[in-house]
Amino acid sequence: MTAPLLKLSRVARTYRNGDVLVEALKPVDLEVDAGTCVAVTGPSGSGKSTLLHVLGCLDRATSGTYLLDGRDVTTLADRDLAAVRNRLIGFVFQRFHLLRDETAERNVELPLLYAGVRRAERRRRAAAALEAVGLSSRAAHVPGRLSGGEQQRVAIARALVKEPRLLLADEPTGNLDSASGDAVLAMLDALHARGVTVVLITHDPEVAAHGSRQLTIRNGVVAEVHATAPGA
Ligand SMILES: Nc1ncnc2c1ncn2[C@@H]1O[C@H](COP(=O)(O)OP(=O)(O)O)[C@@H](O)[C@H]1O
Ligand SMILES: [Mg+2]
Repeated sequence: MTAPLLKLSRVARTYRNGDVLVEALKPVDLEVDAGTCVAVTGPSGSGKSTLLHVLGCLDRATSGTYLLDGRDVTTLADRDLAAVRNRLIGFVFQRFHLLRDETAERNVELPLLYAGVRRAERRRRAAAALEAVGLSSRAAHVPGRLSGGEQQRVAIARALVKEPRLLLADEPTGNLDSASGDAVLAMLDALHARGVTVVLITHDPEVAAHGSRQLTIRNGVVAEVHATAPGA
């Protein structure tokens, strides 16, 4: 019996807006096994990004305990938290978040630069990641010269270049036309098939159908969606 990759015990995130407390994420117990693709759906403002930021160690829970790969990240110092994040997690965001003055190849290479990987190795791995998303021919283009779908594929290559065990995607198809969105989803499916654990945030039920497990979030409350039996 292996431990889950993610284990949240009464994890909550509260924001303070002046005198008002916003319970963006109410206490949640959640375990996600390695290799799962979890789709999380919910309306705007329901807490999806808050959940993703906590899972991704971009933000900290205000209470509760979060074990990531068996390690309690709740109590880690900032630099240790960043190290765990850099080693284990890749991110894909709705708005791509590429550096606009850098080429596709350079955008993909950057996480390796921060990780201290040498230049020849960086080049090799960035080229392989761009090839994996079908964009070898666009390696020298800056984001402004790429379509939205191509930019998101560059962002996926950047997320993958360090071979993360966990990929967190926040509305990855939200800014794309349906053909480009389908290409991005096919890539996430392929990663899942290769054993990468994926958390896919979306408000689109069709996108959520790509999950091997589905959760909803409403007003900060996370709930499991159970498949309905045929004919039920
Ligand atoms: N930095 C913040 N400060 C204060 N309130 C926030 C902050 N981030 C999010 N919230 C609030 O938390 C709730 C959940 O936000 P969010 O997780 O971004 O929702 P979603 O991604 O589902 O649209 C919203 O009510 C939002 O206004
Ligand atoms: Mg959001």
